[in-house]
Amino acid sequence: MNTENIFSVVVLISGNGSNLQSIIDDSEYGASYTIKAVISNKPDAYGLVRAQNSGIETVVVDHKMYHDRSSYDDALQSAIDQYNPDLVVLAGFMRILTTSFVEHYLGRMINIHPSLLPKYRGLNTHQKAISAGDTFAGCTIHFVTPELDAGPIIAQIPVKIEHSDTAQTLASRVLIQEHHIYPQVIKKIANGEISFHDYE
Ligand code: GRF
Repeated sequence: MNTENIFSVVVLISGNGSNLQSIIDDSEYGASYTIKAVISNKPDAYGLVRAQNSGIETVVVDHKMYHDRSSYDDALQSAIDQYNPDLVVLAGFMRILTTSFVEHYLGRMINIHPSLLPKYRGLNTHQKAISAGDTFAGCTIHFVTPELDAGPIIAQIPVKIEHSDTAQTLASRVLIQEHHIYPQVIKKIANGEISFHDYE
């Protein structure tokens, strides 16, 4: 198949890459979009193996090799732009991004976050939801803007918190929903059904 004109994505990861796997599986089925590369800031991220197993190019831009955030983000931007992707997908990419990096991809970069934003930006979201006595946790996909986890919300799925839940049990149920929703949103952006301009 000629993949030249297919909507292209680059996926950024830092770890296990279970969301990446759901995107790989979806991209192989129906071909609404293609994954041009997977980039990790950690050389030992298991997601790199997942990508290689599916014949997807991988790149490591190791944050330990850079002295400051802005030189790291410059290197990351060069690595991404070699692939000229239509969309940058953050899938468990555990880095704070500089404003100039975010602005370079404004409207072309999305993130998945394991809480019902605007609640619980940042880390430890599941424990925060449990400790607050919330009835629901969940996940959110949003366009990335300079303020952390604060960009326009594209989609959310709530997950009921059970009395017996620990942060781990809750995280694993939320993750199942993440795997469900992330490929769907990418497909809708690829098909032009969702655009950043709708939220401006
Ligand atoms: C997910 O819960 C995602 O929402 C968060 O980090 C986790 C990454 O998991 N940002 P994985 O690497 O996709 O398995």
